[in-house]
Amino acid sequence: MAGPVTATVRGLVKAYDGRRVLDGLDLTVRRGEFVALLGRSGSGKSTLLKVLAGTDRDIHGTSTVEGRVSMAFQQPRLLPWRRVWRNITLGLDTDDPRGVARRALAEVALDDRAQAWPRTLSGGEAQRVSLARALVREPDLLLLDEPFGALDALTRLAMHRLVTQLWRRHRPAVLLVTHDVDEALVLADRVLVLEGGRIAAEHHVPDDRPRTIASLARLRARVLSDLGVSHDEAA
Ligand SMILES: Nc1ncnc2c1ncn2[C@@H]1O[C@H](COP(=O)(O)OP(=O)(O)O)[C@@H](O)[C@H]1O
Ligand SMILES: [Mg+2]
Repeated sequence: MAGPVTATVRGLVKAYDGRRVLDGLDLTVRRGEFVALLGRSGSGKSTLLKVLAGTDRDIHGTSTVEGRVSMAFQQPRLLPWRRVWRNITLGLDTDDPRGVARRALAEVALDDRAQAWPRTLSGGEAQRVSLARALVREPDLLLLDEPFGALDALTRLAMHRLVTQLWRRHRPAVLLVTHDVDEALVLADRVLVLEGGRIAAEHHVPDDRPRTIASLARLRARVLSDLGVSHDEAA
């Protein structure tokens, strides 16, 4: 897919105690693209996101993002001593934090929880607040680090619909880290596999939303094989 580039990573090397976790990684993410990043646990997915977010600068190689970046994690990381609306706008430069929070909460269908304390939210609600907090920054690049990993299956499906909706409306480029091949195939335009410190495989997903797992079965088998999982094991 051609188009303006939002994120460029070239020759990225990240080592911990001399051990290279990322080893000459190249990546380009274009404007508005939805990219899923798969890889074994410990393969360096979160490390890559931290570099893109600019929170880890102790690297070799280059990582450039055009515009704003925001990130959401597996744990919503809300401040327990701030009400929901405050969590969303904390640190945000705006004259009307309540209004901004109210609009953001409406987008994630939590209008009625603006005054709630984080501990009174369900896991799915807290994750929606976390998404709203990421979106009010109007990111050009939205980094999602296994954001649905801790949710039950039904809540996860609802979150898939919500993220697709928000992505369509705001059109940030998204880089979603997930363990879940089906989640990657349902949501993304492009699926990457991180292995050996680099992007070891890349698959384009046919653009036929809404997608069904059945229509993606063949691609699923190929991605699982990239991850070193045979089709029978995964079934
Ligand atoms: N701060 C750190 N210090 C030392 N090693 C780390 C640190 N952060 C991550 N690592 C190591 O780097 C590797 C990749 O970690 P990570 O990016 O979190 O993997 P993933 O998100 O793919 O599961 C792992 O082996 C992990 O133990
Ligand atoms: Mg991780």
